[in-house]
Amino acid sequence: MSVIRAFIAIELSLEIQNKLDQVIQLLRGNLDHVAVRWVPAENIHLTLKFLGDVSLTNLEILKKILQGEVARYESFEISVGDLGAFPSIKRPRVVWVKVQAPNDLAQLQRSIEDGTTRLGYSREERGFSPHLTLGRVSRNADSRQTNQVGEVLSATQVGFLGAMRVPAVQLFRSDLRPSGAIYTRLFSASLKSGSGSSNPISAR
Ligand code: 2AM
Repeated sequence: MSVIRAFIAIELSLEIQNKLDQVIQLLRGNLDHVAVRWVPAENIHLTLKFLGDVSLTNLEILKKILQGEVARYESFEISVGDLGAFPSIKRPRVVWVKVQAPNDLAQLQRSIEDGTTRLGYSREERGFSPHLTLGRVSRNADSRQTNQVGEVLSATQVGFLGAMRVPAVQLFRSDLRPSGAIYTRLFSASLKSGSGSSNPISAR
């Protein structure tokens, strides 16, 4: 049985990708002796659901379920800014930028979680924490290097980086290569186009 590795995510505008790239260059410049695997800006996305192995025979029904869930929501705006890290700034492993959005985003994510769970994919037990991963601290980094990442993150204020309307949600294939992951868009599920004023982003 042929399987692919896949995930569901929101693609970012070029403008936001460029801003994220500038943040990565800034951090990289201050951390040139620490092994962080930075994500190429064109690969940065807002993950809604990591599916893992997907059988090719499941692909069409998966697309149908995704379109059905996504089409229930009106297009909304997301806003991007501020640095953070998992599990914490003091012990950073994953470096990210925060995403602010109306409740629609969390509801959309829950609908996708429910729809894919019905299809047999395992439910994500961790709460949804919308973020854009910029880089991952190497497993080989020692505590001094990890502390340095935390210090640089604490000292770097990036503020608001941009906002965009979300027109659709994408299903991606992920191929892991020694040189890094290659993401291929397989399908795009559109949100309802919306009036443009009914879903204001939360005030910053
Ligand atoms: P994240 O970077 O937003 O945290 C594609 O691989 C995306 O799926 C990654 O960007 C990552 O999201 C998420 N992902 C990858 N492997 C995962 C795993 N084993 N469990 C959960 N999410 C994963």
